[in-house]
Order: sequence, then C-alpha cells, then structure tokens
Amino acid sequence: MAKVSASILACDQTRIGEQVLEAERAGADIVHIDVMDGVYVENVTFGPQLVSDLKKITKLPLSVHFELVRPETFLPMFVKAGADYVTFQLDACPNPIHMIREIKKAGLKAGIGIGPAYDVESLRYLLKHIDGIILMSVEPGYGGQPFEESVYEKIQRAHEIMDEVGKHVPISVDGGVNEVTGRKLVDAGVDILIAGSSVFGAESITESVKILKAL
Ligand code: DX5
Ligand code: ZN
Repeated sequence: MAKVSASILACDQTRIGEQVLEAERAGADIVHIDVMDGVYVENVTFGPQLVSDLKKITKLPLSVHFELVRPETFLPMFVKAGADYVTFQLDACPNPIHMIREIKKAGLKAGIGIGPAYDVESLRYLLKHIDGIILMSVEPGYGGQPFEESVYEKIQRAHEIMDEVGKHVPISVDGGVNEVTGRKLVDAGVDILIAGSSVFGAESITESVKILKAL
C-alpha cells in the first residue's frame, strides 16, 4: 500500500478547492502542486497564492513540485505561502546541495525530481541531504502523457542505492499513474503515487482515490 498524492494539475481549475477537499475526504494523503515557469517546461501553472489559499482549507500537507529554472529565486514565496515539501528538478539546478540547504533552513522537507531520461544513479550523493525523491514517469510539463515503463526498474535501482548508502527516503512516482500502472509501481516498491488525470479527470474523484489507496 502506497500513499496517494493528488496532483491538482488535472483539476477543473475553476473548482480546485472543492476537488481537493473531495480527494482529502476520500483518503488522499498529500496535495501535489506543480509550479511551471514556461522556461524549464512550456507550460505555466500555479503561484504562491494558490498554496496559501489551499493551506486555509485543507489539513493535508502541500507538496510543491518546481518544474522551473532558478528554483532558489522562487523558494521564499512558497515558504511564505505555507508549502510543506519542495521538490525541484535536478537538471534545473546547478548547485542542488545548496538549494536543499535553503529549503531545510526554511523548515520544509526537500525533495529532488528527475525526468524519465535521467539515471537514478545521479541521486546517490544527494541522498544523505534529502527527504524524498520523485521519479518522473512522464516528461515534466503536462498531465496525461504516455507512461515511461523504465520507472519500474528505477524504483528497484533506487532501493539498491539507498541500501548501499544506508539511508532510505520515500520514493514517489509522478506521471501516468493509474489503477494499472499503480499496481505495478506498488509491487516495485513505490512509497507515494502522484496522480493527476486518474484522480481529477475521473468520473468520481472519491472512487479513484479509494482505488489507488487500496493497491
Ligand atoms: C507533470 C506533473 C505531474 C502531473 C501528472 O509535469 O509533474 O504532477 O500532474 O499528471 P498525470 O497524473 O495526469 O500524468
Ligand atoms: Zn508533479
């Protein structure tokens, strides 16, 4: 059984609050908020005000996923807004250990994300600094993209590297997570399923959260 992190990218953006509350009532564990800058990825998404507004209505931890360049310049706004976790993409940050220290100095949990083209081995020397990793199974930028199967072996490899380093942090998978891929991800040892379309694009948000939680 894995935790479920509901990615609001797939919400009806006129109804984000009520849809997040439905996911919370159904048993979602985390709210996942993608922040995109139109530079690192083509798309542009949410700002700090959404984080502070969501903070007022949900008890769930707010996990901000930076899909942007120069993450250090965006951090203070999201700290102030009440983010609980900040994850940034490794290839968007030349000095990741410094960035991790800034996140932790602000009292937040720090995560690193890698896209489907990147090797999980690149996380080895960061493990001792971080609180979690996101293995992306789609290219950053959009929901609803084809799922990259390579993530299954990356989960196993991440577990091996964590054994070798002697530190385990939760492994999240982000992109194309649904009932079918989610089952295999849980079998491969994922800790957190990040799901957008399969939760907020479903006929019933409640049912889809319950299905993922039961895997
Ligand atoms: C993609 C985002 C994901 C996105 C996943 O850049 O990081 O969080 O919401 O969407 P689905 O679950 O629809 O693939
Ligand atoms: Zn994401």
